[in-house]
Amino acid sequence: RIMPVLLSGGTGTRLWPLSREAYPKQLLPLASDKTMLQETARRVEDRSTFMAPVVIANAEHRFVIAEQLRGLGIEDATIVLEPVGRNTAPAAATAALIAVNEDPDAIILLMPADHVVGDPKAFLKAVEAGVAAADAGKLVLFGIKPTAPATGYGYIHIGAALPEAPGAHTVAAFREKPDTPTATAYLADGTYLWNSGIFLLPAQAFLDDLAVLAPDILAASREALEKAKSDMDFLRLDDEAFRASPSISIDYAVMEKTDKAVVVPADCGWADVGSWSALWEIGARDQAGNVIAGDVVAEDVKGSYLRGEGQLVAALGVEDLVVVATPDVVLVTRRDRDQDVKRLVERLKKDG
Ligand code: GDD
Ligand code: MG
Repeated sequence: RIMPVLLSGGTGTRLWPLSREAYPKQLLPLASDKTMLQETARRVEDRSTFMAPVVIANAEHRFVIAEQLRGLGIEDATIVLEPVGRNTAPAAATAALIAVNEDPDAIILLMPADHVVGDPKAFLKAVEAGVAAADAGKLVLFGIKPTAPATGYGYIHIGAALPEAPGAHTVAAFREKPDTPTATAYLADGTYLWNSGIFLLPAQAFLDDLAVLAPDILAASREALEKAKSDMDFLRLDDEAFRASPSISIDYAVMEKTDKAVVVPADCGWADVGSWSALWEIGARDQAGNVIAGDVVAEDVKGSYLRGEGQLVAALGVEDLVVVATPDVVLVTRRDRDQDVKRLVERLKKDG
């Protein structure tokens, strides 16, 4: 049985001013009328295939998360609270420990709660293909055929086909976030996939790898879980024990070092929408190439992302802009500059 694990630890800085510390992007309805966390939970709600989900999140977001799951009618989720973020490896270790407690043969499906999957059926098909490899003890990651020389993703060089699992390939090499020339070469080469950050892991095999490759992470997660306190619907990890864990991603801590990594291609309309221009790309554009959300009046506007939340955006005779209005902040930037929103937010934080 497959235990879905939703990772909800990020802050989504480049989607400021809508994405804030109290309401990061996975908790916002950015790509549909459901929040990204809700969309992620809905993809794995079929209880004939999936166990009750586990959400691993920042303790501060607990009530919003519980409410959003209840909004979908999901009452059986375990919401695990991290006192601090320690990146994805400790979260994955904790999830695997919870899974083997329930079922020694459990497979966990680790999913960031802030990704868009345009074709959920194709996603489930890829998961199904991955199960054969996971049953053979492999650590499966899902790879996406790249469509642009993106520098915000990790790349996987695909290796030989795996005879015991149709569709799966060994991983010849990982390359986390290459520069543009390298990414361009990978795209032209055709034997590289994007690392989706979605993993299918036989829980016990993953724990065995952690014991060798990252024993301090495993020890911290184990202790944090042993000393965890149940608090209403929540499982609160022990602060001191979890804090002591190294902060490192599952990619660096395990996937790049293990000899069990395999990649299964997934053609499922996947995107990690990290910025306003990414939302413009995947959004429903009108004839003038605008994506419009909320309270907006636009005249003679082209190629823009306009969003009015709690405030009317009135735009006239402009092109290729991002305008996002919230009750206390209005962001205006060129669409090709929105990667730098992060810098702006950092400056605001510094200046108080
Ligand atoms: N619970 C929890 N705790 N979740 C976390 C934490 C944490 O401390 N840190 C990150 N996450 C969640 C984020 O919310 C996000 O959904 C996911 O884990 C991945 O973390 P990111 O910080 O967004 O990683 P990235 O985007 O830089 O890179 C990873 O994802 C890319 C695909 O989106 C890598 O795996 C890349 O190789 C990959 O291409
Ligand atoms: Mg990300």
